[in-house]
Amino acid sequence: MATTLMLLASLLAFFCPPSSSSSSSDGLWAGSSLSVEKTGDVLTSPGAIFSAGFHPVGDNAYSFAIWFNTPSCSPIAKNCTIVWMANRDQPVNGRRSKLCLLKSGNLVLKDAGQINVWETRTFSKSPTNLTIEDGGNLILRNLEGHVLWQSYDSPTDTLLPLQPFNENSKLVSSRSQGNYSSGFFHLYFAPDNVLCLLYKGTEYSSVYWPSPTLLRWEAGRTTDNNSKIAVLDSLGKFSSTDNFTFLSADYGSKISRMLKMDFDGNIRLYSLKKDGETWVISWQIFRLPCRAHGSCGPNSICVYTPNLGRKCSCIPGYKMSNQSDWSLGCEPEFHLSCNQTEQVGFLKLRNVEFYGYDLNMYSNVTLKGCEKICSQMCGCKGFQFRFSKAHQPGGIYCYTKTQLLNGNRGGNGHCDFYLKVPKANLSFYNSTTVDSELQCSNKVQILELTYSRSSGRHENEPLEFVMWAVCAVGGIEFLAIFFVWCFLIRTRRNSSPKASNLLAATGFRNFTYAELKKATNSFCEEIGRGAGGMVFKATLSDGRVAAIKRLVDPNQGEAEFLAEVNTIGKLNHMNLITMWGYCAEGKHRLLVYEYMEHGSLAENLSFKALDWKKRFDIAVGTARGLAYLHEECLEWVLHCDIKPHNILIDSKFQPKVSDFGLSWLLNRGDVKNSIVSRIRGTRGYMAPEWVSNLPITSKVDVYSYGIVLLELVTGRSPAMGISVTDNDSPKEQTTLVAWVREHLGSAQEMETRKHEIIDPKLEGIYDEAQLLNLVAVALKCVQESKDARPTMGEVIEMLLHKEESQSISTGY
Ligand SMILES: *[C@@H]1O[C@H](CO)[C@@H](O)[C@H](O)[C@H]1NC(C)=O
Ligand SMILES: *[C@@H]1O[C@H](CO)[C@@H](O)[C@H](O)[C@H]1NC(C)=O
Ligand SMILES: *[C@@H]1O[C@H](CO)[C@@H](O)[C@H](O)[C@H]1NC(C)=O
Ligand SMILES: *[C@@H]1O[C@H](CO)[C@@H](O)[C@H](O)[C@H]1NC(C)=O
Ligand SMILES: *[C@@H]1O[C@H](CO)[C@@H](O)[C@H](O)[C@H]1NC(C)=O
Ligand SMILES: *[C@@H]1O[C@H](CO)[C@@H](O)[C@H](O)[C@H]1NC(C)=O
Ligand SMILES: *[C@@H]1O[C@H](CO)[C@@H](O)[C@H](O)[C@H]1NC(C)=O
Ligand SMILES: *[C@@H]1O[C@H](CO)[C@@H](O)[C@H](O)[C@H]1NC(C)=O
Ligand SMILES: *[C@@H]1O[C@H](CO)[C@@H](O)[C@H](O)[C@H]1NC(C)=O
Ligand SMILES: *[C@@H]1O[C@H](CO)[C@@H](O)[C@H](O)[C@H]1NC(C)=O
Repeated sequence: MATTLMLLASLLAFFCPPSSSSSSSDGLWAGSSLSVEKTGDVLTSPGAIFSAGFHPVGDNAYSFAIWFNTPSCSPIAKNCTIVWMANRDQPVNGRRSKLCLLKSGNLVLKDAGQINVWETRTFSKSPTNLTIEDGGNLILRNLEGHVLWQSYDSPTDTLLPLQPFNENSKLVSSRSQGNYSSGFFHLYFAPDNVLCLLYKGTEYSSVYWPSPTLLRWEAGRTTDNNSKIAVLDSLGKFSSTDNFTFLSADYGSKISRMLKMDFDGNIRLYSLKKDGETWVISWQIFRLPCRAHGSCGPNSICVYTPNLGRKCSCIPGYKMSNQSDWSLGCEPEFHLSCNQTEQVGFLKLRNVEFYGYDLNMYSNVTLKGCEKICSQMCGCKGFQFRFSKAHQPGGIYCYTKTQLLNGNRGGNGHCDFYLKVPKANLSFYNSTTVDSELQCSNKVQILELTYSRSSGRHENEPLEFVMWAVCAVGGIEFLAIFFVWCFLIRTRRNSSPKASNLLAATGFRNFTYAELKKATNSFCEEIGRGAGGMVFKATLSDGRVAAIKRLVDPNQGEAEFLAEVNTIGKLNHMNLITMWGYCAEGKHRLLVYEYMEHGSLAENLSFKALDWKKRFDIAVGTARGLAYLHEECLEWVLHCDIKPHNILIDSKFQPKVSDFGLSWLLNRGDVKNSIVSRIRGTRGYMAPEWVSNLPITSKVDVYSYGIVLLELVTGRSPAMGISVTDNDSPKEQTTLVAWVREHLGSAQEMETRKHEIIDPKLEGIYDEAQLLNLVAVALKCVQESKDARPTMGEVIEMLLHKEESQSISTGY
């Protein structure tokens, strides 16, 4: 045994010299090696852009890796941006480990001089050499110049510009932020020629992109082209043969980029900023990290809030399986016996969704019916109860689940989960379910705003000049990019309508300050003022009329601003104002919106005759916009400042909610004053939670919406207050809510006394049933207790289905 080992060791020593014989900076020749112990043993590309060498990945653990040389870094400090690794899952010892290029042409990584941890299994009769190129490709060539092996063919978690991604390629995320070993998320070409993202855990796996609920063509993909090639070009355009494409936010040349399958299941494109010091995200697949499957393990829910990031939490009645590892999820604290069906109860988890693992799907069943089905099935852990009008008139679906995986909060609206628990513990668990806390902002900001149409107000000229000068330099540089953009947008316009979703995602533009200054004629026509800034009318170079909001005092870095704006820009609903783009240059932060000819609801209510039908449509449309914000996208996109000034009216008198997401944009990162001074909104429209220090949830918007409804009915503004004359003090003011309640004490009185509150501008012409319904809904929305208020989804149901509304509202 000992002699065999000695023989082996001497053989290895023969093939792999103990110290590297040549200077290794420009290439490794056959018969030489790189040693883990010599810091100088690195290969560097001709332009010094990339290096390859041993990089520490843990205590006395090293991997052979390729990294970027800018931002300047050192393997010793463990701070290099790694783009490839030979042995990510099997690090080598920090002593006597070597990368040897054997005379035979095989490239071998040896742990402590003995075990082959990794090899290329190449063979060449002629001498070979190993070099790294400026594109980050590590290439093994023979004397004739044939490529025997290259790192581009076996990417780890990163794809570099011009590195082809094909049928045999796969990006696999790393395990966690600091752990480079193989993680759970894969990017690959599926057998049907479509680029997919897969969560592949130890026990289960599921594809989560393109969305498994969409057909391929619905997701804008084609399965027709079987060449399966994707590539990120040098300007920042990614294109794949399945028709998936995207453009980097900083589309243009001479920028270092890398596309990375991140450990959290998201794919992000990173660009190196001009200063060469920081990587910024210039594109990502999901704005919502919880969209990735498997991020939280079984029986848990993924919740995302921008200030806390992604968070996992166990569902009620379950506890973490292993305190140190969320990927293992949670396990039940209780035991359910299968032959005692009457001993189980169901706990409602509102707006929670688990994807996959359905035992069965039942349509047209009642909640009670679904409970019965689930309680009689031993394997049923709970069910998803969905109300979906899109599919059929009854539209109710019950999905019984055997596994609770891919849990997610704030999924699609009208979807609640009912968890099976022992009846004895039901009330206890029910009391432990809490709404996740949400914050609108961290800053004192009680604004009284008017959306005026005063025109011709000029800016402070000297300041303006300085800003112009600063921006002009950048502006010229951006002009070229702008033309490319225009060209791309034009060409995409002509493509099929299915591509329009992609257009919405990528056609969203980055404007230059110079461009916007020109479009607004040097910011001369102010059309309003709102939270955080002034709004100007503009005509863009392509002829579109836009409203441009100029944020004052943005206390936010560029990268964060871009990330947030991209989130907001992606929200797409007919009752939300469309954002066309933004400008972030130096200190300037501008948002470009579509322009609404009819102005705001506030203006329309005070100066114009809005007939009843229009008012009712505005009520429903606004509710739809808000429901989309709250339920179908993300619960954290609270508006926090709903009022008639922020509801704009389009040419068909449909409402569009504006200024959403601004509360977040304006106040991100200012954590210092978080608790005391988190109030924002407008007096008269603000929910009581703001003052009473209770958690801020989407119900603050429901409250404000209720006030808007009352305003639609009465024509009275809560901000003005209502003078109560028959009081001791004639100047005392009461709130709009109190005033309406006073007049309409009970439902019976509502019928008879409604004329006392109705806006005289309606001249008595209205739909009586709709009006009573609207007032009833409004009063539900403005209840003191946030839990008593309906969700926006429920509001829509109540407005549209008066008959059903009774049962729905008592159900909560
Ligand atoms: C990385 O994660 C893997 C899998 O959990 C684990 O085996 C390994 O020890 C970790 N490595 C480091 C350096 O923490
Ligand atoms: C990495 O560490 C080195 C040495 O400590 C330092 O000079 C360099 O600036 C660091 N780079 C980054 C990107 O942190
Ligand atoms: C490696 O070998 C190829 C082919 O023999 C040669 O063209 C190239 O210059 C060599 N590279 C270095 C760095 O010596
Ligand atoms: C894919 O893109 C090509 C070229 O852009 C277009 O001709 C084709 O119709 C697209 N296919 C689908 C299914 O969208
Ligand atoms: C597939 O896509 C490639 C690249 O876009 C194109 O060259 C090729 O003609 C396509 N093949 C088919 C069958 O459409
Ligand atoms: C949790 O996981 C860690 C690391 O995987 C392991 O060391 C520990 O024993 C586990 N704890 C329990 C309670 O299973
Ligand atoms: C449940 O059924 C099993 C066999 O079917 C039986 O052994 C067990 O006693 C039953 N448990 C209860 C609580 O009835
Ligand atoms: C749903 O069930 C009810 C009562 O069982 C029945 O009257 C109705 O026709 C069903 N609707 C559909 C769409 O199947
Ligand atoms: C569930 O209920 C049973 C019976 O009342 C009780 O013994 C047990 O402690 C409860 N478990 C929890 C977690 O409340
Ligand atoms: C859970 O609590 C809510 C209010 O907190 C109540 O309306 C509901 O009926 C309770 N559900 C059960 C099953 O006890």
